[in-house]
Amino acid sequence: MPNTFKKLEIGYKKTCNCPEKHINCLEAKEWVRNQVAIWEFFYEKRDVRDKNIHPAVFPIALPKKCIELFTHKGELVLDPFLGIGTTLVAALDSDRNAVGFDLNKKYTDYSKKRLAQPKLNFSVETKQIVVCDDAINIPKYLEKETVALSVTSPPYANMLNHQRLNKSIRGDLRKNEHYLKVQQYSNNPRDLGIMKLQEYIEALTEIYKGILPLLKPRAHCIININDLWENNRRYSTHSYIIEAMEKVGYEFRNIIIWDKRKLVNRVGIYGWPSNYITLSTTFEYILDFWKP
Ligand SMILES: C[S@@+](CC[C@H](N)C(=O)[O-])C[C@H]1O[C@@H](n2cnc3c(N)ncnc32)[C@H](O)[C@@H]1O
Repeated sequence: MPNTFKKLEIGYKKTCNCPEKHINCLEAKEWVRNQVAIWEFFYEKRDVRDKNIHPAVFPIALPKKCIELFTHKGELVLDPFLGIGTTLVAALDSDRNAVGFDLNKKYTDYSKKRLAQPKLNFSVETKQIVVCDDAINIPKYLEKETVALSVTSPPYANMLNHQRLNKSIRGDLRKNEHYLKVQQYSNNPRDLGIMKLQEYIEALTEIYKGILPLLKPRAHCIININDLWENNRRYSTHSYIIEAMEKVGYEFRNIIIWDKRKLVNRVGIYGWPSNYITLSTTFEYILDFWKP
């Protein structure tokens, strides 16, 4: 790393009056609601659902819930695979500083555009910084023990690097404008979305190994992921990630199911009558680790 490389100037200290030992700014009542391990999210107007802009965006409500659960106002949130900036929008809404990285300039440009809209009611001045770079370089940008939460949805290995068959959609709707299209993020060899499973797990592990020293002790690290189906076989991506993260020093804390049933419309019959396969579009995993 060149000596001249300048770390990002961004706040990371809590600005609220909550006691030091509290994990977040939530009241006891909200805490109870958050202990259920099945989460459901709904889209709001500002969510971007156009697959021509980005093929795999999560709802603002997802990172927002993680931010509220695991950080205080003013603390620093990291998204290593930013996409079009959803985590930074949630951080802005919640008065948290945040930085997000994506390999693809098209997406970082869109993130900046999304964040340019003025915020009306904020109680604390915060920054949300978008960086176009490989997530492997994150340690060049951030100081050690400054990040209070890492939250992201990485590529699901090479899941998108196939012709889209829209198997979860029924009837004529199935042959929509995305049918048979390959909607990968990019052709960059460092793009985790074009890597085969083993190479993908290795690349992801290297990235998270670099992130660990940047986290404050007991900072949470959330990874939203789904398993892979290929040639009629399920690959347990989520358990490979748990194993890999533990190997590089993270501690696995929780597994949460993102219940997507209300987001899936007009589901088709899949496998009937000979092959039982649960429709993986109906749920995803939210893996929760921390720095011990
Ligand atoms: C599932 S998307 C994230 C979407 C995001 N949660 C959102 O709501 O917009 C994963 C992102 O990882 C990015 N990506 C892939 N490999 C990367 C790498 N090595 N470093 C940084 N970003 C990468 C892709 O460009 C893609 O936008």
